[in-house]
Amino acid sequence: MGKSYPTVNEEYKKAVEKCKRKLRGLIAEKNCAPLMLRIAWHSAGTYDVKTKTGGPFGTMKHAAELSHGANNGLDIAVRLLQPIKDQFPIITYADFYQLAGVVAVEITGGPEVPFHPGREDKPQPPPEGRLPDATKGCDHLRQVFSVQMGLSDKDIVALSGGHTLGRCHKERSGFEGAWTPNPLIFDNSYFKELLSGEKEGLLQLPSDKALLCDPAFRPLVEKYAANEDAFFEDYAEAHLKLSELGFAEA
Ligand code: HEM
Repeated sequence: MGKSYPTVNEEYKKAVEKCKRKLRGLIAEKNCAPLMLRIAWHSAGTYDVKTKTGGPFGTMKHAAELSHGANNGLDIAVRLLQPIKDQFPIITYADFYQLAGVVAVEITGGPEVPFHPGREDKPQPPPEGRLPDATKGCDHLRQVFSVQMGLSDKDIVALSGGHTLGRCHKERSGFEGAWTPNPLIFDNSYFKELLSGEKEGLLQLPSDKALLCDPAFRPLVEKYAANEDAFFEDYAEAHLKLSELGFAEA
């Protein structure tokens, strides 16, 4: 799948670099890397390959999309980010929310995910119901990530490692707790915890545990638990794909 990225001018490139620094500052000040990764992922993860609708095109700022059940709490992310966005009117919301996700991973010790600017803001938010349901299993994960978004089994497992950051909030999702003891550090502890079983004080969603029961998923969980470099390499590739769904297609 060859990508053909749009060209952006020098002024835009400079704004992206400066904006990156502002995002690092915000995330350091508010400890909000997990929420920033979640808004980037929920923006992109609505992409549907068949209709070419949804995806990382800046629609999360609309009340209609924020009101989707899966997006509970992301109004906070939109609010935290707006003062920075206001400083860079030239940057699209589409690029901006994806940049926030890339910076969140980098600043917490994760891999560097390449970032290519040039996404356009689309007027139309996606319909509700495209993001995965945490109470479901592997068939559902493949339906959402593979059939709808066009990603691979490897992408599913690597991206699930995003739960190395952050936690569930009862009032947002109905679940409560973090996946790892260090939710502000991006490492491979999500996979280690998943393999070592349920523990007092930590949480595993049904959709996380499902990765252990599938013959294609489980070996990847084991590989990433044993080898952080392998996880970072596959994660960076999968996050890049996610952040560019429907963007710069040749
Ligand atoms: C595999 C399917 C997935 C399901 C079912 C799922 C479900 C959830 C749920 C229920 C929450 C808790 C929200 C809350 O209560 O605040 C959550 C949080 C989170 N998710 Fe996922 N997720 C999935 C995939 C991903 C992916 C692919 C990423 C990123 C690569 C990701 C990143 C996060 C982060 C960083 C948080 C923590 C947010 C915070 O601390 O505020 N998730 N997810």
